[in-house]
Amino acid sequence: MKVDYLTPQTSQTKSTRPLEAQNLSSSNCQPWPGLIETYRSYLPVNETTPIITLLEGNTPLIPVPYISQQIGRGVKVLVKYDGLNPTGSFKDRGMTMAISKASENGAKAVICASTGNTSAAAAAYARRGNMRAFVIIPDGYVALGKLAQALLYGAEVIAVEGNFDDALTIVREMAENYPVTLVNSINPYRLEGQKTAAFEVVDVLGNAPDWLCIPVGNAGNISAYWMGFCQYHTLGKCDRLPKMMGFQAAGAAPFISGQPIPSPETLATAIRIGNPANWDKAWGVKEASLGEFNAVTDTEILEAYRLLASQEGIFCEPASAASVAGLLKVKDQVPSEATVVCVLTGNGLKDPDCAINHSNNQVKSGIKPELSVVAKAMGF
Ligand code: F0G
Repeated sequence: MKVDYLTPQTSQTKSTRPLEAQNLSSSNCQPWPGLIETYRSYLPVNETTPIITLLEGNTPLIPVPYISQQIGRGVKVLVKYDGLNPTGSFKDRGMTMAISKASENGAKAVICASTGNTSAAAAAYARRGNMRAFVIIPDGYVALGKLAQALLYGAEVIAVEGNFDDALTIVREMAENYPVTLVNSINPYRLEGQKTAAFEVVDVLGNAPDWLCIPVGNAGNISAYWMGFCQYHTLGKCDRLPKMMGFQAAGAAPFISGQPIPSPETLATAIRIGNPANWDKAWGVKEASLGEFNAVTDTEILEAYRLLASQEGIFCEPASAASVAGLLKVKDQVPSEATVVCVLTGNGLKDPDCAINHSNNQVKSGIKPELSVVAKAMGF
C-alpha cells in the first residue's frame, strides 16, 4: 500500500489493522503505565488520588561485564540506570508520589531545597499538576543541565549564598509558615515512590542482590531502597535482603566522620551535603543490613565515571559514579559469585561541564573539510 506522507492522519486514515496484525499484540507490547499504577497496591494511594505521572520508572538493570571482570571471582555487577527517568534522575520516582499526594491534599505550591535533580523533578511534576514550584538552590553549585531544566519547566528558582544544608533549613521553615508543601525526601511520600526501584530490581533478578551500592547525599534513597527490599521480603517476593553499601564523597562524608560537615566540598555536586536529613534512617539501614558507609575521593569518582562511559557505554553523572567507585574500592570484600547492583542515580547529560573538563579525550579541531585531511586526522 502506498503511504501518503503529506495528508495528516485522521482517525479515518489511521491504520485499522488489528493490533495483532501490526505485531503489537497486547502480549508483547504492554505500555508501561508509570510506577504508581504498576505498584499501586504497595503505595499509599486510593481511587481519589490524582495520579500526576510522566510514566517514570521501569528503568533498565544493565549488566556491566568490564566492571564485573575487574572484580573477578564470578561476581556479577549490574547497574540500575535511573538516569533514564523522564527528568533524568531517580527523583522522578519520589516526585510522582509527592506531587500526586500534594494534589490530593489541595496544594497550590510546592517547595524544595536542591543540589539540582530534586528541583528539576519537582518543577516538572508540579507544573504537570498545575502547581507552582519554588526551588532553593546553592548559588553556583548546581550543574548546568539541572538548572536549565528547572528554568524551562517554569520553576521559581532562588539561589542562596550558602550550601544545600542551609537551603534545606530555609525550606523546612517556609513549609511550616507558608502555604507551600515540602517535597524534599523528608516528605514520606518521596521515599514511598523511590522504594519502587528496589521492587524493579527484584522483579528483574527474581531475588534481591547480595549487595546494593548506592551514592549517599541527603540519605533518602538508601532508606527508600531498604524499605522496598524489606516490603518485598515480607511478602515473600525475595528470600534475602542485600547488604546496603552507601558511598559518600570524601569531602562531604558526615557518615564517615560521624558528625555533620559544615562546609562540604566535592565535584559531585549532587551529593555535596554535610548534614543529611535522613541521618537516623540511613544509619538504621546500615545496621539492619549489616552494611557499611565508605568515602570515595573525587579522583576515584572521576575514574569510575570515565570507566562507565568508555568501557560500558553508560553516561551517568559524577555523583552516580560514586556507587561504582565505591564498589571498586572495596572489591576485595565482595563475596565470590555475588550479584551486586550499583545504582546510577542521574544521567550524565545533567553535567556536561564535568564531562568536557574531565574527559581524557578531546576534539580534533581546525580540520579542513577535505577527504584527505579528514582521513589523515583519522589516522588513515
Ligand atoms: N545521586 C544524585 C544524582 C542525586 O541528585 C542525589 C541527591 C543523590 C545521588 C543522593 O541521594 O540524597 O537520597 O542520598 N540529590 C538531591 C537533590 C539532594 O537535591 O537533587 P540522597
